[in-house]
Amino acid sequence: MTAMTDARTAADARTAAVTGATGFLGSRLCDRLLAEGWAVRGLSRPTSDRDGLGGVEWHVGDLADDETLRSLVDGADVVFHLAGIGLWSAGPETVWAVNRDGTERVLAACRDGDVGRVVFTSTAGTRRPQGDGDFADETDVAEPIGAYQDSKAAAEELVDRYARANGDAVTVHPTSIFGPDDREFTAQLLAMGVEPTMPAHLPGGLSIVGVGDVVDGLLAAAEHGTSGEHYILGGENLTFEQAVDRIADAADGSPARIRVPATAIRAAGPVAELVDIVADRRVFPFDREMADLATQRLFYTSRKAHDELGYEYRPLEAHVPDAMEWYRADVR
Ligand SMILES: NC(=O)c1ccc[n+]([C@@H]2O[C@H](COP(=O)([O-])OP(=O)(O)OC[C@H]3O[C@@H](n4cnc5c(N)ncnc54)[C@H](OP(=O)(O)O)[C@@H]3O)[C@@H](O)[C@H]2O)c1
Repeated sequence: MTAMTDARTAADARTAAVTGATGFLGSRLCDRLLAEGWAVRGLSRPTSDRDGLGGVEWHVGDLADDETLRSLVDGADVVFHLAGIGLWSAGPETVWAVNRDGTERVLAACRDGDVGRVVFTSTAGTRRPQGDGDFADETDVAEPIGAYQDSKAAAEELVDRYARANGDAVTVHPTSIFGPDDREFTAQLLAMGVEPTMPAHLPGGLSIVGVGDVVDGLLAAAEHGTSGEHYILGGENLTFEQAVDRIADAADGSPARIRVPATAIRAAGPVAELVDIVADRRVFPFDREMADLATQRLFYTSRKAHDELGYEYRPLEAHVPDAMEWYRADVR
């Protein structure tokens, strides 16, 4: 390539601003954007681990820092707002402040600046199937359970309002994301599949989507989504039992065989609430309503994303080798 084409390529590169760039999903998104020739700006807290993300232009601060947010988003063609926090790592007040108030600040910075499209990452949890065995779609808006869903639902309303007021914004709703570097859901599911010391798994079921497929969905939403619309980015719908057995087969482990009865999980709800209050520690399933949720089949359809964005997902087995390699090297 000549110096002139180099210069033209750099000038033509589209700019993405990514909040949550140092996270499990955000770091994969940054890798992909860089590989596809985007100029990538990332929001990073001073304490965030930025290893392995060379090539990103870092804007150091957090979601409470309006100046940093403005410099992050101004001039971006697409703002991918992924930063968020769950009840695994914080209490309800922090969860609300980061997920709802943080989104409000990102949108205010976008409104003040010169920004193309906002792609907001919510959760499939704000939607729920109407009955056991049904598949939820974007219209199955559910009464939020717990601070995480509550804050994400409130953030969705802000994004919808931004779109209605002549902003350009779409919302994506990933289901449970599976892939390397996720010490929460992925590590637990792999442990249930392959660790003889983890012989229990949950009743109920869920939609499991590979992290690479969600990245595809984010890019497709940026490219083809309709402003103001919502898209579920799901994967295979599996009972926990099926998921654990298939991970065990794919990873050549011994499948877990003992299932935790639904009654035991429901009983654990009040205990978790008590530990939370007394010891200021958050223990799954966090509270009674979450406990009940863990016993249900939470299945989703991604048909709208398929039809309108060209979104496709791969089966669980396609994602196990990479996740297993990371698990064996870093978690065990
Ligand atoms: N993982 C899933 O199964 C799943 C499913 C549905 C939706 N989602 C949503 O997808 C998004 C990404 O999830 P993830 O799994 O990648 O989570 P993650 O690994 O925990 O990453 C969260 C990111 O948000 C950043 N962050 C948290 N609080 C912040 C604050 N106050 N200011 C600035 N940045 C802050 C974190 O920074 P640090 O690096 O400094 O911690 C990190 O970069 C989240 O919005 C989540 O709710 C995830």
